[in-house]
Amino acid sequence: MDQTLDIAMIMGSAREHRFCDTVASWAAAEVEKFFKVAPRVVDPREQEGLSLAETSQAKERFQQKLGHADAMIIVVPEYNHSYPAAVKTVIDEAYGVWKGKPVGFVSYGGISGGLRAVEHLRQVIAELHGLSVRDSVSFASAWEQFDDEGRLKNPDRARSAMTRMLTQINWWGRHLKESRSVEPYPF
Ligand SMILES: Cc1cc2nc3c(=O)[nH]c(=O)nc-3n(C[C@H](O)[C@H](O)[C@H](O)COP(=O)(O)O)c2cc1C
Repeated sequence: MDQTLDIAMIMGSAREHRFCDTVASWAAAEVEKFFKVAPRVVDPREQEGLSLAETSQAKERFQQKLGHADAMIIVVPEYNHSYPAAVKTVIDEAYGVWKGKPVGFVSYGGISGGLRAVEHLRQVIAELHGLSVRDSVSFASAWEQFDDEGRLKNPDRARSAMTRMLTQINWWGRHLKESRSVEPYPF
């Protein structure tokens, strides 16, 4: 059994001048260090509007990248005490790809560090038969934590949280990948 995990990273914002690029670049580098493989990036900007059309190139790309993944990481900001519509559209477009797979979160925002967005996303992931791992990484007042080059000013705390989360993703990811190959998820 191939123990290598294919990780997809979903960008949670489609906003112009989004801060998501800074946080996701840091997170992608940490994933690559941990798994020795870069994550496949899924960007909501690839979609054409919010049409939820039956077929579209963006929908196919989302489904392909997420369908091949053994685990997903969602990099998400908080908008009005929840997650942005852009991330929900990716999730709704790629319906069916989450079953029996672990999902982790890197969140950011103001005082709450995006944790309210994460708690709402956990409900959505459970509905899709995904498994959200317990630990997440959270950046409160995120723009104060990174310098102009996108480097964390004090990286130790975030690295330690990321390692905990990735260790959980790795454990669930390997075991669920093996289980899915022995017995397909029944729903
Ligand atoms: C529409 C909107 C609503 C927001 N609501 C909240 C909020 O409820 N709580 C919070 O901590 N930050 C909130 N923020 C701040 C964002 O989390 C912060 O600006 C973040 O960097 C946005 O991510 P993005 O730049 O990648 O889109 C909000 C920002 C926007 C644009």
